[in-house]
Amino acid sequence: MKNIFLIGFMGSGKSTVASYLSHNYNLSLVEMDQMIVEKEGMSIPELFAQKGEAYFRDAETSLLIAIGKEQNKVVSCGGGVVLREQNVAEMKKSGCIVLLTASPETILERVKNDDNRPLLKGKKDVASIRDMIDNRRPKYEAAADFSISTDEKEIEEICKEIIEKIAGV
Ligand code: S3P
Repeated sequence: MKNIFLIGFMGSGKSTVASYLSHNYNLSLVEMDQMIVEKEGMSIPELFAQKGEAYFRDAETSLLIAIGKEQNKVVSCGGGVVLREQNVAEMKKSGCIVLLTASPETILERVKNDDNRPLLKGKKDVASIRDMIDNRRPKYEAAADFSISTDEKEIEEICKEIIEKIAGV
């Protein structure tokens, strides 16, 4: 099986969906943020503060290149991977790119108590989240093979839709 890359804004459900797909469809799970945190020995907020966003983005690109050499993985990508064209090209080489979406209201509900996302600092309101999603939407949509809305859906339903659509890609 080719790799499955889950992309989408913070709080769109990538980690939850990746974990479910990994357990139920025998795929090995890659949590990009977590792998970078382990490799660098610091949290995402620390990385952004001490080394800067560009350093973090380079780490994402190196990791995607390494993942692309393998197969049978479900990858929960950081919400910003689509910001670099090279990242999208690397993902396309080894797998299928699935965009998860959710409304700004749903996203806010999911991220409101989380302090691990530096780009949301001071922006935990519907209008700011909507702006950020709107800015990124063209990149998410251009990268994705297809997209799935996660609003008000059970995890089983989301994953079944993904597997059915992948079979048809
Ligand atoms: C980011 C999303 C985060 C993390 C970092 C930057 C982004 O991942 O990679 O804080 O630019 O959207 P999640 O989407 O898993 O929260």
